[in-house]
Amino acid sequence: MRKKLSEAGLLRPDARITSDAKHVFIPVMSEKGLKCPVIEVDTEPVEVPSHYSEMLDLPPGLMELLPTSFDIVGDIFLMKLTDDVLPYSKDIAEALLETNSHAKVVALDRGVKGEFRTRDLKILAGEKRTMTIQKEYGLNFRVDLAKVYFSPRLATERKRIADLVKDDEKILDMFCGVGPFAIMLAKTGKPGSVYAVDKNPDAIDYLIKNIKLNHINGVSPMLGDARDIVPQLPRPDRIVMNLPHTSIDFLDVALGVINKRGTIHLYLILEKGSQEMIKKSIVHLATALGRAISFKNIHEVHTYSPTQGLYCFDMLIG
Ligand SMILES: C[S@@+](CC[C@H](N)C(=O)[O-])C[C@H]1O[C@@H](n2cnc3c(N)ncnc32)[C@H](O)[C@@H]1O
Repeated sequence: MRKKLSEAGLLRPDARITSDAKHVFIPVMSEKGLKCPVIEVDTEPVEVPSHYSEMLDLPPGLMELLPTSFDIVGDIFLMKLTDDVLPYSKDIAEALLETNSHAKVVALDRGVKGEFRTRDLKILAGEKRTMTIQKEYGLNFRVDLAKVYFSPRLATERKRIADLVKDDEKILDMFCGVGPFAIMLAKTGKPGSVYAVDKNPDAIDYLIKNIKLNHINGVSPMLGDARDIVPQLPRPDRIVMNLPHTSIDFLDVALGVINKRGTIHLYLILEKGSQEMIKKSIVHLATALGRAISFKNIHEVHTYSPTQGLYCFDMLIG
């Protein structure tokens, strides 16, 4: 009953469960929708642990292996666990749910996989759903994390690119997902057009929903492979290439269409320290395609693994 009430968001976290000889009294927020009798009794306040680990009692050596940070998308908490603590995943998830009032779902994140870069998720606690709405710089993004890619860690980066957009620019988001770059660029700047391409039909469905949700004009969703679609679109002045494991394989397509003095933002997951080597191979490719290239800015967006980072290469194309 306690678990059901908690899942329904009805359990009061600030009061203790008490009992007498015949009854157990579970404090609830409201009596709406409850089939059992609701009465008034004096309750004792409970101190909710501020950190979820305080609610756990794992065997020696395992407490140190508990995750210290989580990706949070809307009201869904995504946690990565090492094999050692995996057997305790349900307890960990319940503890996280009880100590974070804005968490409604806790899911195990087994990594981003496949061509559509979707997460392999297992819901461990809370409501049984993978759909949520993420708020970012005043925009709302509806996402189903089991069907489409979304990373909350790119919010600042998206704003950085949006602030670079000049009036009337033609923008191309080559791997748009549910549209966080395309929509933020369209909303923040005054671009002439924004074409947003993705191969995942679910991503394009959510992009269309998000365009409506945010009342955006001028973003054109395009379903298909960027390699086939991009050459058919108007030549862009700015291209966002966020497919970090393989975006470099599509750089020839981007260099083939971008206008002179256009900018490409290329996202790559790289070994830390290998940026210079990658620069050389990019220059080599650009030269072979007859395009001049200058690097305006290269920065690490976030760490990807102990030895790798997600990097953005901002490149001016001549
Ligand atoms: C890492 S996600 C980035 C999504 C989005 N830019 C964001 O920041 O949330 C990469 C996206 O590229 C799409 N994709 C993969 N291969 C593609 C291709 N050949 N052509 C177009 N889209 C592709 C995937 O479906 C996925 O939505």
